Amino acid sequence: MLKLQNMTFKVPETDSDSGDPSLRTIIDDISFTFESGRFYAITGPNGSGKSTLAKLIMGINAPTKGDIIFNGRNITEMPIDERSKAGIVYGFQHPARFKGTTFRDLLSIALGTDDEDKLARVMARVGVCSMDFLDKAVDSKLSGGEIKKIELATVIARNPQVAIYDEPDTGIDLWTIGPMVDLLKRENEKNKTTTLVVSHNRAFLEAAETLLLIKKGKITYTGDLSGAMPMLEDLSVCSFSDTCEGEDNAQCYR
Ligand SMILES: Nc1ncnc2c1ncn2[C@@H]1O[C@H](COP(=O)(O)OP(=O)(O)OP(=O)(O)O)[C@@H](O)[C@H]1O
Ligand SMILES: [Mg+2]
Repeated sequence: MLKLQNMTFKVPETDSDSGDPSLRTIIDDISFTFESGRFYAITGPNGSGKSTLAKLIMGINAPTKGDIIFNGRNITEMPIDERSKAGIVYGFQHPARFKGTTFRDLLSIALGTDDEDKLARVMARVGVCSMDFLDKAVDSKLSGGEIKKIELATVIARNPQVAIYDEPDTGIDLWTIGPMVDLLKRENEKNKTTTLVVSHNRAFLEAAETLLLIKKGKITYTGDLSGAMPMLEDLSVCSFSDTCEGEDNAQCYR
């Protein structure tokens, strides 16, 4: 069980008019319990705080206030590497690229071995059928979709208790999204992985047992997709236009 208690994250900001320093609240007093082995989707408008919340859980950001309790233990002060050893793993929205590093290197680190059979097994598990892919360099030449597949494979290879995927489908081709949803469901069901998927994609929202809607740093809805539909439709008032006038657009980009 992963429990968030009054999680708050504020960043320093300078008022553009007065020049006065102030604090901007990105995550606003969030309390929520993720039950073990459940599949969650976290959605909400751009800039609403989804990735920030994921990074607070992983320990990449330190909360301004609040606590995280994992399996009964307070891990608020625990560094990232220890959280990872304790079983919490995060797949970045924008994974890092490393010149001179291959997928084989990253996967071997995630698995804790470079044994070819074990690498092959995890490749099959994540649906990458060509072993040639192992020798792909994880550098700037990798496509947007390829790097997301590599990131997802390295999360799964760690057999996490809690897997957090931040927009795993970004840049992924249409034909791969269905199998990706199936893969995460399978990992969730077979390994009882508590799964948190940050996504805007309906396929993930439908697959989730519980959907969390985040708006302006607060959870504004928890439940199933059908219950969230009126709120999601309400968010779609945002439209692109060639002027900045109009109340709807002003609300969307706030
Ligand atoms: N360390 C930080 N310092 C200053 N601002 C930050 C920091 N971290 C996040 N923010 C701001 O907080 C807001 C929420 O960011 P976040 O990345 O969590 O959004 P998101 O919901 O994941 O959006 P998207 O759907 O676009 O990925 C953004 O406006 C972002 O610029
Ligand atoms: Mg994000």
